[in-house]
Amino acid sequence: MLDMEKLVSLCKRRGFIFQSSEIYGGINSCWDYGPLGVELKNNIKRQWWSAMAHREGISGLDASILMHPKVWEASGHVAGFSDPLVDCKKCKHRFRADQLSKKHCPDCGGELTELRQFNLMFKTFMGPVEDETSVVYLRPETAQGSYVNFLNVQSTLRQKLPFGIAQIGKAFRNEITPGNFIFRTREFEQMEMQYFVKPEEDEKWFEHWKEQRLKWHLGIGLNPKKLRFHEHGKQELAHYAKQAVDIQYEFPFGWNEMEGIHNRTDFDLTRHEKYSGKSLHYFDDETKQKYIPYIIETAVGCDRTLLACLSDAYCEEEERSVLKFSPCLAPVKVAFFPLIKKPELCELAHKLQDSVGFHYLTKYDEGGSIGRRYRRQDEIGTPLCVTVDFDSLTDQSVTVRDRDTMKQERIGVAQLVSVLNTKLGLS
Ligand code: GAP
Repeated sequence: MLDMEKLVSLCKRRGFIFQSSEIYGGINSCWDYGPLGVELKNNIKRQWWSAMAHREGISGLDASILMHPKVWEASGHVAGFSDPLVDCKKCKHRFRADQLSKKHCPDCGGELTELRQFNLMFKTFMGPVEDETSVVYLRPETAQGSYVNFLNVQSTLRQKLPFGIAQIGKAFRNEITPGNFIFRTREFEQMEMQYFVKPEEDEKWFEHWKEQRLKWHLGIGLNPKKLRFHEHGKQELAHYAKQAVDIQYEFPFGWNEMEGIHNRTDFDLTRHEKYSGKSLHYFDDETKQKYIPYIIETAVGCDRTLLACLSDAYCEEEERSVLKFSPCLAPVKVAFFPLIKKPELCELAHKLQDSVGFHYLTKYDEGGSIGRRYRRQDEIGTPLCVTVDFDSLTDQSVTVRDRDTMKQERIGVAQLVSVLNTKLGLS
C-alpha cells in the first residue's frame, strides 16, 4: 500500500500541492494547488466537463457561491446539515461523536461534554451590518444553484425532459474532522450534474447514470480493481434521497467515497417552490400535464478524484518513481531536451517545442544528464520526452521516449507533431 507521506512529500517537492499559508505555519486542512497541481486539476475538470456538460441534453451553469439565505432553509441545510459534536473538557479537542467508540477523549482520556449538533455551513455577513438579517452562507454544495435555475435553463433552451444541468465549483463545509490530505477539507471543488426526469422514469435514469459515472472513472485511467459501488442502506440515506449509491475508491487509507449518485425525487424543487412561492412545475407538451420532475444527481469531488488519480498513478520501480497518469491527465504532456547543452541542439529543441504550439503543456529542460532529466519527467508523469542529438541536425529526426515502457523510437521531425498527438490519444 502506498504511503501517504510519500505522496504528500512528492506533491510538495514537485509543485503539485502546497500547504496553504505555509510561511505562517499553515492553516488546517487548506491546500494550494501548485503549477503542476493546477494543470492536473484542470485536466480532470476538462474531462468531466466534456463528458457531462457537452452531452446532448445537458448544459452548463456557473451559479454564484453566495445565495439567498432562504435557499438553505428550503434545502434543509439550516435545520439538518450538521454532525454530532463532543468536546474534551480537559484538552479541549473536538470530535465527531459518531466516530468515537469510547465515552472518553481518545487523545487524553478526559471527560467529554454532552453531544450537540454542529452545523457545517460557513456563515458570513453580506454588507456592512453584521446582524442576523445580513447572514449569508458559503454554499456547501453546488446543487442548489442548479435547482433554483431549473426553469431559467429549461425555458431559455426550450428543454424537454429528461435534461441536465452541470456545474463545477467550490463548496465549503466546516468539517469537524478534516484530514487525509486533500480527501476531506473545508474548502473543496465539486463537479455535479442534476438530471431532471419524468417521475416514473427515475429508476431507469438512476441506473443509467450509475453506469455512466463508473465508466468515466475508468476512462480517466483509474484501476478497475480499486473502484466499487456502495449502495446506501435505509439508515445511510440523506434526508432528500430515495436511493443512493457511492462510487468508492481504495485510497491509501482504505475504501472511501469519491462520488455520490442520488435519486433526490421531487424533494428539492418542491421545497424551493414552497419557500419561494414561485411555481417550479414543468409543463409536459405531450401529456399536457404540469408536474415537478424528479432529480437524479451525480456529485463527485474534484479534489478526491485528483487524490485518487495521484495514488493510482504512483509507482515505484527499481531505479525510478513514476506517475503513470493517463495522457489526458498528465500535467506536462511532452518534454523537449537537447542531448547536451550545445547552441545548435538547444535551438532545434526549442524550435520543436514551439511547433507543438499551446495545445497542451510542454517543458524544455537542458539541465543535468539525460538520464536524470528522464527521471525528473517520470516523477511528474510526463508521458513523452523528445531528445535532439547531433544526428538530428543531419538526419532531421529525433528520439521519442515513452514514460511507461522506457522504449525509444527515432521519429522524423516532419511527422513529430502528428506522432506525438497519436501517442497522446489526441488525434
Ligand atoms: N450535492 C450532493 C452532495 O454534495 P456529497 O456526497 O455530500 O453530496 C459530493 O458530496 C462529493 O463531494 C463527495 O462524494 C466528495 O467527493 C466531495 N466532498 C464532500 N465533502 C467533501 C470534503 N469535505 N472535502 C473534499 N471533498 C468533499
